[in-house]
Amino acid sequence: MLIVANWKAYVEDIKKAKKLFSISKKLVRATGVDIVLAPPAPFLGALAVRNKSRVAFAAQDISVTTGGARTGEATASAYTAAGATYAIIGHSERRAAGDTREIVAEKIARAFANGLTPILCVGEEERDGGGRYLGFIREEIVSAIEPLAPKERPKIIVAYEPLWAINKTAADAISSNDLAEMTLYIRKVLAELLPGKGSQHVPVLYGGSVEPENARLLALDSGIDGFLVGHASVDPASFELLAKHLA
Ligand code: 13P
Repeated sequence: MLIVANWKAYVEDIKKAKKLFSISKKLVRATGVDIVLAPPAPFLGALAVRNKSRVAFAAQDISVTTGGARTGEATASAYTAAGATYAIIGHSERRAAGDTREIVAEKIARAFANGLTPILCVGEEERDGGGRYLGFIREEIVSAIEPLAPKERPKIIVAYEPLWAINKTAADAISSNDLAEMTLYIRKVLAELLPGKGSQHVPVLYGGSVEPENARLLALDSGIDGFLVGHASVDPASFELLAKHLA
């Protein structure tokens, strides 16, 4: 099981950042789950640069630029230098701030060019009875993966994060039946894009109100390879419980 902890802008002091990192180090030793932390950029730099543990780090986003006179941008290359090995790309909160599908595809290329594993986020805003949301998910995946070289494609991670389930509670998250159906669908789309057995190597994650209360059930019956966790990943007690439930 892979747990990606997206701290978003919840963590604003280094003491808390260090505490969550130290809990994560204990959890990977004690439980065998894989943990990737995605802190706000300044804390990623502070924690990841001397990291020797099995906990890995992800950028929450990367710049679409390759550097230069771009005030406020942090490039994939800068994140790699700071110790990140993953990058979350196309999160709905970044798409809402202006990331188009073209920008998402370019950011994925930047990630690969700088040795970061992209975690591509896809997700529909709402579910219609006619199943049009499936076509929407397909388009988000195809537009991000089609421009990639065949040897890059199996190295991507896909995170399904339906917008209607983000930042709610376990009771509002997806059901494990619906998640199982979506996982199968995403695997079918991936199989079309990745020749041979390539698509089997692509981890598919779920994100959207994963809490200690629903993590185990969602993991058991859905065919999912891990979770992208927001609010429950910044509460030390919840995060610990969640990881233990997935061990
Ligand atoms: P929540 O777990 O807070 O719903 O956030 C999910 C998410 O957006 C992770 O990237």
